[in-house]
Amino acid sequence: MKHILLISREGALKDPLTQAMGQDKLKLDWAQSFQVAFSLATKLQYDVALLEVNKFDASAAEFIDKFLGHNPQTMLIPVSPNAAVEHVTEAMRRGAVDFVHQPTGAAEILERIWKCIENRRLKNEVDFLRHTQPVIYRFDDIVGVSPPMKRVFSILGKVAPTDATVLIMGETGTGKELIAGAIHFNSPRARNSFIKVNCAALPENLLESELFGHEKGAFTGAHRQRVGRFEQANGGSIFLDEIGDMGASTQAKILRVLQEQQFERLGGTQTINVDVRVMAATNKDLPELINTGQFREDLFYRLNVVTIELAPLRERVEDIEPLVKFFLRKYAFQICNRAMEMTGPAMKMLQDYHWPGNIRQLQNVIERAVIMCESDKISPEHIALFDRRPLKKRESALEIPDGGIKLMEVERLLIVQALERTGWVQKNAAKLLGISPRVINYKIQKHKIKRESI
Ligand SMILES: Nc1ncnc2c1ncn2[C@@H]1O[C@H](COP(=O)(O)OP(=O)(O)OP(=O)(O)O)[C@@H](O)[C@H]1O
Ligand SMILES: [Mg+2]
Repeated sequence: MKHILLISREGALKDPLTQAMGQDKLKLDWAQSFQVAFSLATKLQYDVALLEVNKFDASAAEFIDKFLGHNPQTMLIPVSPNAAVEHVTEAMRRGAVDFVHQPTGAAEILERIWKCIENRRLKNEVDFLRHTQPVIYRFDDIVGVSPPMKRVFSILGKVAPTDATVLIMGETGTGKELIAGAIHFNSPRARNSFIKVNCAALPENLLESELFGHEKGAFTGAHRQRVGRFEQANGGSIFLDEIGDMGASTQAKILRVLQEQQFERLGGTQTINVDVRVMAATNKDLPELINTGQFREDLFYRLNVVTIELAPLRERVEDIEPLVKFFLRKYAFQICNRAMEMTGPAMKMLQDYHWPGNIRQLQNVIERAVIMCESDKISPEHIALFDRRPLKKRESALEIPDGGIKLMEVERLLIVQALERTGWVQKNAAKLLGISPRVINYKIQKHKIKRESI
């Protein structure tokens, strides 16, 4: 829904415009005076403001300055029957995006409003693409056949059409950004901006200014007012990457945006309202950060309306072959302009590897192999893996934490887990652990494990 503010004493355009809008996704509010316009604009961020004036005089020019000073994201269009060239130039110089010379029919004014909205959307999109790799996010480009990926697809289908906040967790290179982008571009917000912010890349005060913007003079070096990423994302989605690295003050502000869709620019007093879908990602263990007091629990629950966990590639080996084929098709044509295939031993080698860099690493390995291979068959010698030892599942399942661990405690935890999994049938739990029922019974006594104490 786009919001239009008509600022006009008589409101002559109100009815014709409302009629012309029909079923369009536009909503029109009418402000009879400059004062009412200011007060309405503090409650809602308007996409377009139409300033209907009989004569474009000094007070209209002054209003544009003041209004755009407070609402830099709104596109302002003066509408006037008496407009000379110098008036139009003056209005544009002050930041108006168009000038309607009356008499002009409501339908044409609407058309020009839509054009401005589309231009702004394109500008935001170009800004976004300029700052990120040019990825096109589509569900079809997410490859996966494993049970964990099937679960992800089923969640995607359900959450994409909604406004629900999504928290995406997974190791580096598991596709967190790809998933966030796919959700946005398959949602009703797809025509609006998808804004990405890496929360780990900036120190806290710069991050806040990046997210929420700042007023002129808010801090040393703030020479001009700046619109933040939340305002740019209005009507669309924002993707907060590496959210686990966000400082306490920013966390509090993000919580408020999630609860109230409101914030102030740094150094500003005006409350800004936005309509933004929030998606966040992290490769950190947020519950662990909550335990150590580095992440707010209330923010976690707000973000966690829908959680998507992306399993590491080594836990979904079935996906390796389809991913290899997907990347091979892409790079073979991009780089060599012909089809290529993977020999059996090369595929086996890829399937045995433990992929610490996950899908991004797999993608890079395939790209390199395509470059290195002179024929149309990729064999093991074209594949560069920095650790060729296959890591068997059994070896990787248990890992000693950096701070060490007590063997006795591990034993106790495993016994409890085995008992829980087998419904506390000792015989079956013993089998799961490869010990005799007598030994498990002895250990249960030793560790004083009791069902109700768990
Ligand atoms: N299931 C998938 N199918 C196809 N390509 C994928 C898939 N998952 C990830 N990729 C590709 O792998 C690369 C890394 O993905 P992405 O950048 O989304 O990962 P990430 O989890 O955000 O990583 P990081 O934590 O390092 O930021 C991208 O080029 C992405 O397109
Ligand atoms: Mg990422």
